[in-house]
Amino acid sequence: MRRYVFAISGASGAAIGIRVLRELMKSCEVYLVISPQSFFIIREETGIDWLGKTDAMTQKNARKTFGSDNLFFCNEHDMAAPVSSGSFKTDGMFIVPCSMKTLSGVAAGYTENLIQRAADVTIKEGRPLVLSPREMPFSAIHLENMLKLARLGVKIAPPVPGFYNSPATIEDLIDFMAGRILDAMGCEHSVYRRWGS
Ligand SMILES: Cc1cc2nc3c(=O)[nH]c(=O)nc-3n(C[C@H](O)[C@H](O)[C@H](O)COP(=O)(O)O)c2cc1C
Repeated sequence: MRRYVFAISGASGAAIGIRVLRELMKSCEVYLVISPQSFFIIREETGIDWLGKTDAMTQKNARKTFGSDNLFFCNEHDMAAPVSSGSFKTDGMFIVPCSMKTLSGVAAGYTENLIQRAADVTIKEGRPLVLSPREMPFSAIHLENMLKLARLGVKIAPPVPGFYNSPATIEDLIDFMAGRILDAMGCEHSVYRRWGS
């Protein structure tokens, strides 16, 4: 079974991250890291609140929410979590959505929390990393950080909607963006209808 690290940081667009997560968990093991700020944004934007008093409770809540045993919750402050080490093999990592703070931490190799450390490990091990940076507008600082990472082979896949599929609902738009993010990792899915299909 393929295994991915999946991080959600505190940018808007939590529903897109959760759509990707739901799809991944159907066939892959997922090590989930959520920044403390994201728990708040996920609740505000999607109504989902899976934060428990302990990590074990959070994991239980998340598995119940998604109905999947493929999910392994890691606390953002747990620098001894498996995904903190390159010796723990994964097939790659997603950060969806990716805040400008997390983007800059990854671009600088700062590794101040588990999301940044796992991304640093993914880059140093030469594994695929897909970031979905969300801000509007982007400053030159944001763009420079993205360019630096893109030159290292990191896929920059922002949550940008397409309109050629005639989306009728917000769910259609979310599916399209989630599907394109999965495409960036090379994951098979049928989340959206492909042009020409
Ligand atoms: C409702 C809300 C929406 C936000 N949206 C964004 C966003 O789209 N992009 C971004 O870079 N930061 C956004 N922020 C600010 C980040 O949450 C903030 O910079 C935070 O420190 C990021 O931390 P993290 O990367 O550790 O999650 C938002 C904050 C709130 C409260």
